[in-house]
Amino acid sequence: SGGALKCSLPSRPEYIPNHIPDPNYVRIFDTTLRDGEQSPGATMTSNEKLVVARHLSRLGVDIIEAGFPASSPDDLDAVRSIAIEVGNQPVGEDGHVPVICGLARCNKKDIDAAWEAVRHAKKPRVHTFIATSEIHMQHKLRKTREEVVNIAREMVAYARSLGCQDIEFSPEDAGRSDREFLYRVLEEVIKAGATTLNIPDTVGYTLPYEFGKLIADIKANTPGIENAIISTHCQNDLGLATANTLAGAYAGARQLEVTVNGIGERAGNASLEEVVVAMKCRQELLGGLYTGINTKHISWQARWWQSIPDCMYSHIKLLLDGMLKHKGTYEIISPEDIGLSRSNESGIVLGKLSGRHALRSRLLEFGYDISGKELDDVFKRFKEVAEKKKRITDEDLEALISDEIFQP
Ligand code: KIV
Repeated sequence: SGGALKCSLPSRPEYIPNHIPDPNYVRIFDTTLRDGEQSPGATMTSNEKLVVARHLSRLGVDIIEAGFPASSPDDLDAVRSIAIEVGNQPVGEDGHVPVICGLARCNKKDIDAAWEAVRHAKKPRVHTFIATSEIHMQHKLRKTREEVVNIAREMVAYARSLGCQDIEFSPEDAGRSDREFLYRVLEEVIKAGATTLNIPDTVGYTLPYEFGKLIADIKANTPGIENAIISTHCQNDLGLATANTLAGAYAGARQLEVTVNGIGERAGNASLEEVVVAMKCRQELLGGLYTGINTKHISWQARWWQSIPDCMYSHIKLLLDGMLKHKGTYEIISPEDIGLSRSNESGIVLGKLSGRHALRSRLLEFGYDISGKELDDVFKRFKEVAEKKKRITDEDLEALISDEIFQP
């Protein structure tokens, strides 16, 4: 049946790079700050990247791909700042600290830059890639299959030799690569120390059935695959990035690469909001898979980026007749579950006489669980605003939280 799913999920399992203690847990890897930044007009300053990283961490993202450090000294600095701050700061109810990841082509210079940027994080990861499709190897790399396997193996081993124990490897354009060759490259990089194998559908070419089968085949045919996590990275050229990502998860991928609002090169990447909400509301059909994302923060986050969920809900307004008869006619997930139409269950109306406790309780209803110094700072600012206004609205609270918690 439609209807909002209200179940309490197990807590986030302990982080081990190449193993997830709970087989139903799916890691969310956000690449808004790397692949998303390639979207026209999405270039960000270092400070903007830091603010976005704070949002992603609050949202509960497991891995933040913070950038491509070899691409410019500024990007290296931005990734390093994120590693130092966000990569060491526990957040949320589970005190989770995200992995901070930097991208590198398969060469020493890139890998050195990525490691230099991420190594300050509590959980650093280097993500290295090389193309494996015939068309890319012949025309872009001008390398033979043998050369590509050797480079991949040597560069993963090189990252390991620097001290990095969490290494992601991507065979670029895997969606159009020869299967047997793909299994071989993956086998070699696992032996060299890769802990996550990311399978990119770089040009967004595959169909959901096909992509699901690709993941299932890799799982069944790659020697040593039980010692690594399989990941998806789906582009949206045919409008199938979310569908392909879900098909990949169903077939055994336990890391999904996404971006906020699906931003990215060309038609974009799989959207974090769509993937996470689809997994939440079709959880049963997906065999009980779950993520560590705090969906109550989704609308806030997405609105912050000029958002999607409001659009998702606008069509529901047109379907009001059915909705009034039975919510389940058109509503597949409750707006509250993703932080929209927040109920004021406590009935608290905030004003200048409200205390810290009232403010904290109301913020909890928004999905924000803050205490200690963070609460002190927000409360101080709240008092200043409340002095000037009779009543503090939800929008005032949102602005307050964004200013106090996320701005550098
Ligand atoms: O689309 C792609 O192939 C990539 C890889 C580097 C993961 O972005």
